[in-house]
Amino acid sequence: MRVLAVNGSPREHGNTYLMLKRVCDRLAGAGMEIDEINLHLKNIAPCGACMICVQTKDGQCHGENDAANELIDRTRRADIILLGSPVYFGSLTGQMKAYMDRVGYVSRQGDNFLRRKIGAAVVPARRAGQLFTFAELNMWFLINGMIVPGSSYWNIGFGRREGEVSEDAEAMATLDELAENILWLAGKVGA
Ligand SMILES: Cc1cc2nc3c(=O)[nH]c(=O)nc-3n(C[C@H](O)[C@H](O)[C@H](O)COP(=O)(O)O)c2cc1C
Repeated sequence: MRVLAVNGSPREHGNTYLMLKRVCDRLAGAGMEIDEINLHLKNIAPCGACMICVQTKDGQCHGENDAANELIDRTRRADIILLGSPVYFGSLTGQMKAYMDRVGYVSRQGDNFLRRKIGAAVVPARRAGQLFTFAELNMWFLINGMIVPGSSYWNIGFGRREGEVSEDAEAMATLDELAENILWLAGKVGA
């Protein structure tokens, strides 16, 4: 079983990374294979609406010559997709939006490779905007036919400086419960 953890924060080892890691460590401990992507380290432009994928339906992006097809291929190979984004001005980061548009559109115009994968989102912020951002990420899972496990609370955390979210005990407990529910669900669906 393969997990893809997509980090939309430009801080490579910031709070989003720590939230994703909390879940991934538990999944890895249960034998799952973890693939990690930090979008900031990849060259991925926003969708240019060239619509070539609508014509070709070949599961590839033919727009910009950047990392999109690598990200598409790594997403396709995953059974479980974790998306993490910090809140930037009440919303998700530009890097994450580019990933969602480029990968999601190619999936929908092709063979719907996202369909029935398991998806879960994690969102840190200093003060506000986590729930809106969490909803944005979950709407991407849902429109793409993915299966979304819950937890004991929404998968959000509080923290500003790098590492601060680890001090949010309720967030850490929520992520632990999320990991348990992902494992339970993966067992049921045979992911
Ligand atoms: C450009 C920018 C915009 C931000 N906007 C918000 C915001 O709207 N609400 C908030 O609570 N925190 C905001 N923050 C703070 C981050 O969400 C917070 O520091 C978060 O923990 C960063 O996660 P990271 O370490 O994974 O990058 C913003 C930070 C930056 C750099």
